[in-house]
Amino acid sequence: MSMSRRRAIALIGGGVVLAAVGATVGFAASRTPARALAPWSLAGRDADPRRRALSFAILAPNPHNRQPWLADLRQPDRIVIHRDRERNLPETDPFDRQMTIGMGCFVELLALAAAQDGHAVGFEFFPEGEDGPVAVATFRDGGTPDPLFAHVLDRRSCKEPFEERAVPAGLVKELSAHATVIDAPDTVARLKDLTWEAWEIEALTPRTFRESVDLMRFGKREIEANPDGIDLGGAFLEGLMMAGLLTRESQLDPTSTAFGEGVRMYRAMLAATPAYVVLTSDGNDRIDQIESGRRWMRLNLATTGMGLALHPVSQALQEFAEMAGTRARVHELLAAPGQTVQMLGRLGYGPITGPSPRWPVETRIMNG
Ligand SMILES: Cc1cc2nc3c(=O)[nH]c(=O)nc-3n(C[C@H](O)[C@H](O)[C@H](O)COP(=O)(O)O)c2cc1C
Repeated sequence: MSMSRRRAIALIGGGVVLAAVGATVGFAASRTPARALAPWSLAGRDADPRRRALSFAILAPNPHNRQPWLADLRQPDRIVIHRDRERNLPETDPFDRQMTIGMGCFVELLALAAAQDGHAVGFEFFPEGEDGPVAVATFRDGGTPDPLFAHVLDRRSCKEPFEERAVPAGLVKELSAHATVIDAPDTVARLKDLTWEAWEIEALTPRTFRESVDLMRFGKREIEANPDGIDLGGAFLEGLMMAGLLTRESQLDPTSTAFGEGVRMYRAMLAATPAYVVLTSDGNDRIDQIESGRRWMRLNLATTGMGLALHPVSQALQEFAEMAGTRARVHELLAAPGQTVQMLGRLGYGPITGPSPRWPVETRIMNG
């Protein structure tokens, strides 16, 4: 979660010390976590087709940027793909549903990258049941490049307020091939309320909020040491950290100014939403979740190609007890009885944002 200057001002509740902090150009240049962002520029360089595809697949969206994927390359022309359970989010994702969706995003990007190179990938999912590997990917010659691949390096989860501009009807129609798009004002208004209510429940339930705060990386040093989780970086935020205005403790204290301003900031962001996208599935087994991830990946690439911003807002879909009422209301609104809402996202025109950190691809390979 890279934060813009505007959001940071909201976060600490005022602009008094901020001009001075932001003014030091040399300091700004030195605070970019270049090592944590390098995987975005190094993708596609390896000679081995599997490693080349993996170098793109690690750029997939995934919950809290945990990057739970691991690849075993011991068998020729194959990748055995595992999910690293150490990276689970037990409080907010108790059934690993979102983690599995993230793995779906990863396998779709792997397939797109391989096809770009002239390789078709066949997947066998959960060959040993759901406690074993997520998939065995077999590379063969073939594969047709997909125009969506062009947007891989520009794709983002855009965690910013969107413009008031509506999504043009033509684009809504095109996107309907990927997801249900909701732009009817009454349903949009209901979803603004529900996503806000859900965000507040997660933030005010100490164990679920702590899970996020524990994953916050404060400044370049922490981001480069652990290029995952929720990254709070850049010269501006680091200035606030140096001034003691942005700390892990203040984030955990609901009575602090920093916490209160964070809440206001999120409320404003969630409200600045002209449309939503929804992915539902009839069942809710691991294959349904993988399939939802694959669809989300393609949707996110398609929106990128259209110049639209997309932002998952998952709180209202989470399965912890305190969320049950909100989750039920979202399902009543968006899904037929028995269906599961797998992904809910904000859609609109947003600012251009930078990439989020990634672990280098070689650290995700279990054995070279
Ligand atoms: C299943 C899933 C759920 C997500 N839920 C949220 C969410 O509730 N709020 C949010 O800001 N981002 C959410 N994200 C986006 C991730 O935070 C984001 O993908 C990750 O930080 C990497 O950033 P990037 O997508 O810009 O590369 C979700 C992503 C996935 C795949």
